Parts: sequence; C-alpha cells; structure tokens
Amino acid sequence: MPTVAAELQPHHQGDSPADEANWWRQAAVYQIYPRSFADSNGDGIGDLPGITAKVPYLKELGVDAVWLSPFYPSALADGGYDVDDYRAVDPKIGTLQDFDGMVAALHAVGIRVIVDIVPNHSSNRHAWFREALAAPKGSRARDRYHFRDGKGMNGELPPSDWVAAFGGPAWSRTPDGQWYLHTFTPEQPDWNWDNPEVRQDFLATLGFWSDRGVDGFRVDVANLLVKDLAEDLPSRAELELMDRDSGTHPLADRDEVHEIYAEWRKVFNEYQPPRFAVAEAWVESPVRRAKYASPEGLGQAFSFDLLVADFDAGQFRRIISANLEQVRLTGSTSTWVFSNHDVARHATRYGLEPLKGRKVKQGTEWVKAGGPRETLDIDGGIRRAKAATQFMLGLPGSAYLYQGEELGLHEVADIPADARQDPSFFRGAEWDGLGRDGCRVPLPWEPDGPSFGFGANGAHLPQPAWFADYAASSQDSDAGSTLAFYRKALALRRLLQAGESMVWIETGNADVLHFARPGGWHVLTNFGTEPVDLPRGEVLLSSVPLNNGRLPGEATAWIRV
Ligand code: GLC
Ligand code: CA
Repeated sequence: MPTVAAELQPHHQGDSPADEANWWRQAAVYQIYPRSFADSNGDGIGDLPGITAKVPYLKELGVDAVWLSPFYPSALADGGYDVDDYRAVDPKIGTLQDFDGMVAALHAVGIRVIVDIVPNHSSNRHAWFREALAAPKGSRARDRYHFRDGKGMNGELPPSDWVAAFGGPAWSRTPDGQWYLHTFTPEQPDWNWDNPEVRQDFLATLGFWSDRGVDGFRVDVANLLVKDLAEDLPSRAELELMDRDSGTHPLADRDEVHEIYAEWRKVFNEYQPPRFAVAEAWVESPVRRAKYASPEGLGQAFSFDLLVADFDAGQFRRIISANLEQVRLTGSTSTWVFSNHDVARHATRYGLEPLKGRKVKQGTEWVKAGGPRETLDIDGGIRRAKAATQFMLGLPGSAYLYQGEELGLHEVADIPADARQDPSFFRGAEWDGLGRDGCRVPLPWEPDGPSFGFGANGAHLPQPAWFADYAASSQDSDAGSTLAFYRKALALRRLLQAGESMVWIETGNADVLHFARPGGWHVLTNFGTEPVDLPRGEVLLSSVPLNNGRLPGEATAWIRV
C-alpha cells in the first residue's frame, strides 16, 4: 500500500511576490473541455456552473491550475475553436456572471485559471467577418482577414491549391466572388495580423480576461498568426519543400510573430502577478520553440515530445534531456503532457501493443479501425499510463493533465458517424480518420443515470456502457483506484517539488530510468517487464503494489532516500 509521509512539509510556501509570479513554473495544470465536463442544467452540454459545482473535486484532486478550452460563443464548427466573440461566454454554457463565480470559487481554493485564446482565426459568425462579407472588395473591413481574387478567367479558381488542416481547400469563395483563407475549416477565417485593428483588438481581449482575474492564457496555434501572402502564392508542393525552420516560411513560424507576443507581454506585465501564457506551437526545432517560451514573449511553450513517444526508456530519457537543455536557452521551464483534447487518450495508446506501436498515430489507426476492444490491452494500457504519468509528475517543470485521465479513461472509439462532431471526421482530414471526439466524451461522474452523472439528462456525445466502471463516485472511496492514485501523486508532488533540477542516476539496465530531485526525492520507472530492485529508502508511492520490495515491470516508484 503506498503511503504519504505525514511529516513532509511543503518546500514552497507560495506567499512571497517571487513565488506568486512563478506559480506556473512547476504547476500541475488540469485541462477542462467545458462542454464535456459537467452539465448543471440537464441540456446535455457541460457548462460553467457545472465546473463551479466540481470545484471541491478539483481541490481534492490537488491541481494547481485549470486550463479551460474555449467557452466563447460559437456554432461549434470546431468544438469552440471557432470563436464568434472573444469577450463573452457562450449562452449555451453560461454567462459572464457564471464565469466570475467560477473563477472566484477556484481562486478560493487556490486553483489558478488559464483560458484558451484563439488568435489565428475567428469564426465566420464574428461581427468583423460578417462586416467583411458585407463590405466591398478592397475595403478596410476585408483587410482584417485574408481576402483575395481567385485565378482563372473569372476568378473561379482559388488563389492557390492549399489544403486546410482538416481536409478540403484552404480557400472558400464569398458570394461576390472573392476568396478568403482558412487554415482550418471554412467556418474559421484566418485573421490578417498585419492589420493594426486586429492587433489592438486582441490586446483588448487579453486585458478583458486579465481584469476579470484570469491568471493566464493558452495560445492556440501560436506559430501560425503571421503570413506572407505575396502576389504569386507558392503551390502546395512548393510549400512542402520550404524550410519551416528558417523563420521565413510563408505560413508557419515566421520570425515576425514574436513582435506580436512582445506586445502581449507588455499587457501581461501590467498585472500583479504578471499574467502567464503557454504557446501551442508545433514547431520544428527546440531553438524555434524556445522563442515562444522567452520571458519577452509568451513565457512557456508546450512540448509534445513525450506525447508522441513510445512507452520506452531510451526515448523518454533522450526527450527529457533535450527539453531540459532547451529551457536553459530562455530560463523558462519545460512542459510535459500525454493527453489533451486533440489526441487519443494515452491509456489507449499504451494499450495497443498488438498493433506494434504506441504512438499517437497508432491510437488514431485504432480509432479508425472502429476501436476493436479485443485489440486493446485495457489493463496494460492503464498500467503503463500510470507509470508514465507518475514519472512525468516527478519531473521538473509543469505537468498538463487532461480531464478524465485521472479516472483511467480509455478512448471511446465506437461513436456512430451521425453522432460525431469533429470537423476532421466530416472533412476527411489526412492526419486523422475518425477525429477527436473519442477523448471528448462527457465524463462519468456516477456509475448509472441517464448520462453517468454528467447531467440530469443525456450527453451531447454518446457515452459507452463501460463508462459505468470508471465513475468518479465509485473511485472516490476506493484507495486502489486510479483517482486515488492521482490524488496521492499530486499531493506528494506538491510537498516534494523543490528546485528545478534533476540528475540521472545510471541503472545499468536499459529499461529502467532513475533520476533524483533536490531533497532526496528519487523517481524510478521500470519500462521493462521484469521486476527490479529499488534504492534503499522510504517508498512514498508506487503506481502498482511492490512485489517483495521490488518494482514490478511497467511501474514507477517515488522513494525518499
Ligand atoms: C488547436 C486546437 C485544436 C483546434 C485547432 C484550430 O490545435 O488544440 O483543437 O482544432 O487548434 O483552432
Ligand atoms: Ca448545460
């Protein structure tokens, strides 16, 4: 039975101004997908009062912050990443008053609030896009987006053959014959970041939420904002040959994007403590990523390296060393994440051994194949996921957790086509087959009821029968549950997390990683299948029970030496 050492005291009291400003450096951040978290009024859609009602749950879980995926007014063409109005709450999920109530309730228990900002594109229902459509060619209103004439005799061909991220062309035609650019769905027109009004408006949005007490921002596709749309656009094939690492690619990761974040930083620093931001930027190299994490810019950037890795000691070690090296470039801290609203859950990815691979792609392939349960190692997946998560929670830096992983949830694959919502499913995205709905299914809070306690009625995405076995209420009082494991790990992490350093300790076994943190906190993960000896010391927590004092395969232990 894992034990929590009662005499341990927190290293950080968190009350000096420096601690206050640095709260994010080693935070455990829990991602909430608001429409699928908890439904307070029985309309099938999770809402802000639903989150407020679960504050005691979040407090007991022991996270330092929550990050909310978009809750803004939206037609949900892309799950809310199509924003109609950046400074309002979607009436389907609450009001601004509900938002303030939620922030107050979270703050009252010491949980910070991070909101998602979507600056690459608005929705096609945004007031400025409507205005642009109604305005003539060449107008000031059209300059806020990327409108262009088409090719061909009558402009009937798109300006280029570019393909959108979820499939289909990246240009759509307006009734008057011009075309507009959308990196994602046609309902998500890209902003023109060369336009000063666009820049000003986002500064106003950052101030609006900061004034309401928001502690930080997660910046959606932070690397795509600035574009160079020269007269002669390159073809899709030409684009693919261009270096995405040079800072001069026409569409991605252009150097000028950092001028925008320098302006944002000025807004963040007007607050006490300064507002925090983390970039979602799938860029090519550590050096490119570091620019987003600069203290003159957003301050932190997601690393998705562990998320795309196999459950493999060698890969993990290389990734961690490289990421720690990288954050030294800027003085930021690293981020670690296994699951979010865009990928198949890591318990499932790690449970797909029969497919001979555990990467995100394998998860996607499995979902595409209809998620045959007989090819999924249900227990092995969760065992490896817990080992990996406990390993991650021992690392210096911030750990991002995704709602439902603390329940040991697997991906839901068998969602009928007519119940699916993700545009990447309907548009036949090349990178995905069935899309991302399987990790966005509303959570099971109770083992029964019309939507397993999610709400008083149904849920907006169908929940599978097996959700009954994963209910939060059943796990709550079960000391051996995944939920109890997450709570213990997060509580201990809070006590143990001291300096930002770690040192590898050689194990002489290629399947076993061992590192030490300040204060005698040792983390040991056995990626192999044979039990191994543990260093002498007090075992604070292990992801599975020890076997005669030894660490079984696919398991992690925290030891105080
Ligand atoms: C980000 C989001 C994803 C969304 C896309 C477009 O990658 O995480 O969910 O579809 O941006 O906004
Ligand atoms: Ca609701």
